[in-house]
Amino acid sequence: MSTPTLRSTLEAIVEPQLVRPLGDVGFIGAVDITGPFPRVELVLPFTSWPTAPLLEAAIKEVAEGTSIVRRSMNEDELLALRNYIRMEMRGEAGPGHHDHSEPGPRFLDKTSRTRVLGISSGKGGVGKSSVTVNLAIALAQQGHKVGVLDADVYGFSLPKMLGADHDPIVLGDTVIPTLVHGVRCLSMGYFVPDEQPVIWRGPMLHKAIEQLVTEAWWDQPDFLLIDMPPGTGDVALTLSEIVPRIEMYVVTTPQAAAQRVAQRSAYAARKLKLAVRGVIENMSWFIGDDGKRYEIFGTGGGQKLAEELGVPLLGQVPLNMTLREGGDAGNPIVTDGNETDVHAAFAQLAKTIAAQGQARVYRQELRLV
Ligand SMILES: Nc1ncnc2c1ncn2[C@@H]1O[C@H](COP(=O)(O)OP(=O)(O)OP(=O)(O)O)[C@@H](O)[C@H]1O
Ligand SMILES: [Mg+2]
Repeated sequence: MSTPTLRSTLEAIVEPQLVRPLGDVGFIGAVDITGPFPRVELVLPFTSWPTAPLLEAAIKEVAEGTSIVRRSMNEDELLALRNYIRMEMRGEAGPGHHDHSEPGPRFLDKTSRTRVLGISSGKGGVGKSSVTVNLAIALAQQGHKVGVLDADVYGFSLPKMLGADHDPIVLGDTVIPTLVHGVRCLSMGYFVPDEQPVIWRGPMLHKAIEQLVTEAWWDQPDFLLIDMPPGTGDVALTLSEIVPRIEMYVVTTPQAAAQRVAQRSAYAARKLKLAVRGVIENMSWFIGDDGKRYEIFGTGGGQKLAEELGVPLLGQVPLNMTLREGGDAGNPIVTDGNETDVHAAFAQLAKTIAAQGQARVYRQELRLV
């Protein structure tokens, strides 16, 4: 293989976190085939880059016996990478469809195909995060480009539930979410010091959420799911300002009490003029070893809430021990290759949400009266 051929083959390898060819992100440095074995310089933003071992294996597969020298990028190379990412985010290098009057990433433009789904609930513990994680993966499994933002400052748990194996990467003023199970994931939790109670209010919370939505490289997703804190709160208000066309989905259990609190959060969303698009019932029933269906938390809560809100009940997720264990261990149930009623429920939910399309009503600005 000649040096140019080897170089172009290496440059075409796709970096698994950024999902861009190594050539485009500047990861391939000097390539030398003058010795008995090729010598390739792998140039990374920092040498402990999370996919470095995978990249080295991929390079060795192209040219056996290659010796790889890892080095970190110099300032110019880092700047070039950051510019590349910013251009990808803002679409400035694109064919000119981008409306420059709108600041922020292209996926927040009015004409963007990205749908932002706020997953909310009236109270904690109804399975909002479990639903968010498995729904996000189910959407990715159906071929959509998906991001999840854990905006639940009071109980952030998504990266652990998803099984993220490394932290998001901060490159200058851009954050690169962790790509895991085909889903880009970012959590407020990474930006709150450990063990520190979250007392963020108003402006601080607003700024943090705004940054995570607008300064992270979500890479023009089809869906960005946001795990919202329970209740009504500041986060919904902030998001309604940053992403006016956010669609709200309310998670509830079949219990009447859960349904009443869920209703309050849905009404609050309406007050902010957020489109409530549907209800998702979780913990709907449990199928015992005897094959019988047990309705542990009662029945009908999801349906009743949907009727009261005038929106569809989009799906019912059964209670399932593997779902809980998978969440605890960071192996989301929908990735385990089985085909249970839970897998079917998430696949169906993903299809239904994708099929119902973007909310039709857009509003130009938020008015609180
Ligand atoms: N369908 C289900 N079957 C079995 N266990 C479930 C189910 N849904 C959620 N759980 C379990 O219930 C617990 C609470 O779920 P989860 O953390 O998803 O809820 P949440 O609404 O996000 O809670 P929080 O308010 O604490 O953020 C977790 O241990 C989770 O594994
Ligand atoms: Mg949660």
